[in-house]
Formats: sequence, C-alpha cells, structure tokens
Amino acid sequence: MYSATDEQVKQFEQEHEYLKTKIDLGEEIVWLTRDQCVEMGPDVEGTLDVVRTAMISHGKKEYEMPAKIGIHPFDDVFFHAMPAYVPSSLACGEKWIECFPRNPKEYNLPQTTGLQVMNDIMTGVPIAVMDCTWLTAMRTPAVTALAAGALHPEAKTFGMFGCGVQGVEHVRFIVKTLPKLEKIYVYDIYPEMMDKLCDAVKDDVSVPIVKAGSPEEVVKSCECLSSATIITRDPMSVAKHEWVSKGQTILPCDLNTFWEPSISLEADKYFVDSIDEHELFNGMGYFPDGLPSIVGETGEILAGIKDGRTSADELIVCSNIGISVNDIAMGQVILKNALEAGVGTKMPL
Ligand SMILES: NC(=O)c1ccc[n+]([C@@H]2O[C@H](COP(=O)([O-])OP(=O)(O)OC[C@H]3O[C@@H](n4cnc5c(N)ncnc54)[C@H](O)[C@@H]3O)[C@@H](O)[C@H]2O)c1
Repeated sequence: MYSATDEQVKQFEQEHEYLKTKIDLGEEIVWLTRDQCVEMGPDVEGTLDVVRTAMISHGKKEYEMPAKIGIHPFDDVFFHAMPAYVPSSLACGEKWIECFPRNPKEYNLPQTTGLQVMNDIMTGVPIAVMDCTWLTAMRTPAVTALAAGALHPEAKTFGMFGCGVQGVEHVRFIVKTLPKLEKIYVYDIYPEMMDKLCDAVKDDVSVPIVKAGSPEEVVKSCECLSSATIITRDPMSVAKHEWVSKGQTILPCDLNTFWEPSISLEADKYFVDSIDEHELFNGMGYFPDGLPSIVGETGEILAGIKDGRTSADELIVCSNIGISVNDIAMGQVILKNALEAGVGTKMPL
C-alpha cells in the first residue's frame, strides 16, 4: 500500500473541490462513449507523456495496483479486473476488460472490449464510466515505444507481429521514440491485415513499411521487435530462437505466446512491466517452461532506477502485459478534458 504525502493529499482535496463544480458527487456519474473518449483523449505525443509519468510512478513504487484477477469462461478467453491508485495522476479507478480472440472471426466483434470506472480519491464515489478499448489501444503501444526508446534508441529497424488494433498503434507510436528508424517490417497471418495497417498509418508514418513474407524474415531483419497477436496458456512459439541474434530488443505484448520460451529464458536481460503480474500469470500456467529470471521493471528503467541496455550485444526481452496505472492515468486525462468541455452524459446513480 502506498501512503500519500501531505502535499498529495492537498492535491486530492483540490481535485475533489474541482469535481464538485462539475458533477453532483454521489448523486450522478458521467457516461463517456468510445467516440467521446477518442475526442477527449490525448494524441500520440500526449499519451506518451501520460504513460511516461505513470510508468515512472510505478518504477518508484508510488502507486497501488494489485495484480489483475480474472475469470475464464472458456480456455481461450479472459476477463480482467484492473484497479489502480496513481497519486501522481490524481487518479483512482478500475478497468474491467475482456479478451476474446474468437470474436473477430466468429462474432464480427473486437477481440478486446471493456469499461472503466473512475472514482474520487477523497470520497471514493464513482465519477465516470467510460469505454476503455481506445485508451487500451493507446497506452499499450506507448509502453512498448517508451521501453524501445530507452533500450534501443539507435534502432534503424522495427518489426511488428500482429497487425490488428495493437499492431496499427504500435507502428504509429514507435516512430516517435525511435527517431533513427529507416524501415518497419510487419507480419500478420492474414495478409489483408498488413494492407489495412499500411493504409491506417499512411498519413502519420513516413518510414517505409515492408509487408513481410514470413515471421523469420521479420525476426532476422529487425533490431527491435514487438508482438501483439493472441495470448494462450501454451506458447505458440512462432518466432524461433535460432532466428534471434545478440543485440536485439524484443518487446512482447502477448506474454509468453509468440516467442519460443527459450528466447526469454536465455536472454541476457528479461524486464517486465510488473513482476507481480508475471508471477500471477506464471501461477496460472502461462510459463510452462518456467518464468525467466526478471532483472527489473520497465518503469524502473524509465525512472532511471535500473540500467536498461549496458552493452550493444545484449539480447533483451521486455515483456509488457499491461498495467492499470496507465489505464487509470489515461482515464483521468480523458475525464478531465470531458468535464472541462461539458462532454458526456450525466446519469443518476
Ligand atoms: N500487453 C498489453 O498491455 C495488451 C493490451 C491489449 C492487448 N494485448 C494483447 O495484444 C494482442 C492483440 O490485441 P489486439 O486488440 O490488437 O487484437 P486484434 O485481434 O485486433 O489483432 C491481433 C492480430 O494478430 C494476428 N495474429 C494472430 N496470430 C498471429 C500469428 N501467429 N502471427 C501473426 N499475426 C497473428 C491476427 O490475425 C490479428 O490481425 C492480444 O493478445 C491482446 O491480449 C496486450
């Protein structure tokens, strides 16, 4: 548990007074649709700032965030409850997110859906309920991009596996933190998803994008790589250890699924966004070959508490499974902008 400083408590009180001018606390909440979240949310640069601040707070242990708990009606799906208290962002709340990889094909629905509740820190009362798919689509690539910028700032090549929601945003974000990029490789099992990605980012990304013919081509061509495909309890091991070389930086968003587990087990350094989260997933059987030995957390690198890369030939894996300090910090910015602009529907509690 984190105890707020006197200065922080003063800020919470001010925030409470501000909220009282915008909403009848305890009597009503603000409902924000997905479109309103997009309209009121920060842009790519703004998201990087919000997430950097939240990650640094995480690195300094100035937060409260129990590892996510979940329910699993089917083997291949999960719901996660993700609460967080982030004093530096004056934010607390909880994200309730679903991941159903079967959805796009079988139901014509997105793989990832969810809602987020934001609360007043001083009184606990709920202030807002908002869609959380967009903020998830933004904060996840922000973490990858910030970690890539810290671990491999000189990278000239970036590879992205999975060209869905996350893949598109990863390509949009990565160009902001890897300024020397000359080429981006993308790969998806469905070639039309690669086309869609290229189309989606064409106005924002001037770095040439190669639609790769195989995972091997991507792994062998890129210094820095990420994957956002699906998460399964048993590793799919699509990316093979024999294709990987020293000096690469691998930043999976899909836990231990896409990359052959021996890559992480034998990496020179294995960082994670949250040790608690990775230990929890290990307990649930997502690391059947064992959880690699963790040298530190992504937030600790960003806060300057732990060294990231210390030699050019280190193979580094940095696994970011998603932490709610970022969701709640993003939600706070969206909510604040919406309250200022008078956007959202007030509803009685
Ligand atoms: N770490 C985090 O914080 C975080 C946050 C959100 C989502 N995720 C994870 O990221 C993944 C993608 O989420 P999304 O919302 O982008 O889903 P999505 O369905 O929009 O995209 C996934 C894409 O991966 C492709 N794919 C599946 N298997 C593949 C393979 N073997 N090789 C190449 N491509 C493959 C699919 O064809 C699809 O285009 C999911 O596993 C999700 O759980 C992680």
